[in-house]
Amino acid sequence: MKTLVATILACASLVTFNQAAAAPIEIKFSHVVAENTPKGQMALKFKELAESALPGQVEVKVYPNSQLFTDSSVLQAMQLGDVEIAAPALSKFQKYTDQLQIFDLPFLFKDINAVDRFQKGPEGQKLLKSMESKLLVGLGYLHNGMKQLTDSNPIRVPADIAGQKYRIMTSDVLQAQFEAVQAIPLKKPFSEVFTLLQTKAIDGQENTWSNTYSKKFFEVQKYATETNHGLLDYMVVTSAEFWYGLSDDVRAKLKAAMDESIAYGNTIALQKDAEDRQKIIDSGKTTVLTLTDAERQQWVDAMKPVWNMFADEIGPDLIGAALEANNQ
Ligand code: SIN
Repeated sequence: MKTLVATILACASLVTFNQAAAAPIEIKFSHVVAENTPKGQMALKFKELAESALPGQVEVKVYPNSQLFTDSSVLQAMQLGDVEIAAPALSKFQKYTDQLQIFDLPFLFKDINAVDRFQKGPEGQKLLKSMESKLLVGLGYLHNGMKQLTDSNPIRVPADIAGQKYRIMTSDVLQAQFEAVQAIPLKKPFSEVFTLLQTKAIDGQENTWSNTYSKKFFEVQKYATETNHGLLDYMVVTSAEFWYGLSDDVRAKLKAAMDESIAYGNTIALQKDAEDRQKIIDSGKTTVLTLTDAERQQWVDAMKPVWNMFADEIGPDLIGAALEANNQ
């Protein structure tokens, strides 16, 4: 890895020299969600802050709603140099590292504050570098929120979901999670979810309040069950070639702009989670079901065995560190 980064840095001086007189550096930021989401707002904030910190030196172009790349193609496009920044859900990195699967383990984190502590701690920070051998550099984590189930039928206990077709992100942990309750998981891109629900090709999906509201899934789902069973967060990533090819000054200013944008996005995530839940309830289109402790415990009991299936791939120490974050 050192050799690889050294080679990139060696080329960087040439690139830096060229940057002095050249047109602004174009930074394409591709994502799949709407603009009125934590990620959509964070991307726009990054554009504002980066362009004001480096006037005339960078131009950030934000492409929301899978306009440039879908979630299944963006990381490969980044490796090929076709896009500079993306922030895929943590569930979408499975091809690049086993360790990030930790974030998909059901009922691992007790709430978003525990997630935050883990991500900011040494283990979480190490994970940002876990894909550098694949030329992907993590710049930070961004929250969206905890996931809930939506369905065309009322789902209260695991027996209710048996045989139901559920769209999932491209994660084997999520597949195992739904198989553990006898549902039928289907890995599909985010851009297809609304149509799959509308045409009844699937019965339900799991997502945050913000994604369910902004993509109008609630308009085509009669029920939502507030399970908080899993996490939907993002890693903001860039390509090693792009990042280490920047001058130290530009890289430092972009990193500062990114840190501030992520902090901004995280504040929005907390607000939107509560606001969009309420908007869904107020719409009258979806009935939101809350669970009793006994009902929720049935989900925990059914899904938690999934941890053992992936413990070796993820690393028991990493899982231990995540559990520690619940107790702090
Ligand atoms: C996203 O929030 O980026 C998409 C999540 C999903 O694919 O469900």
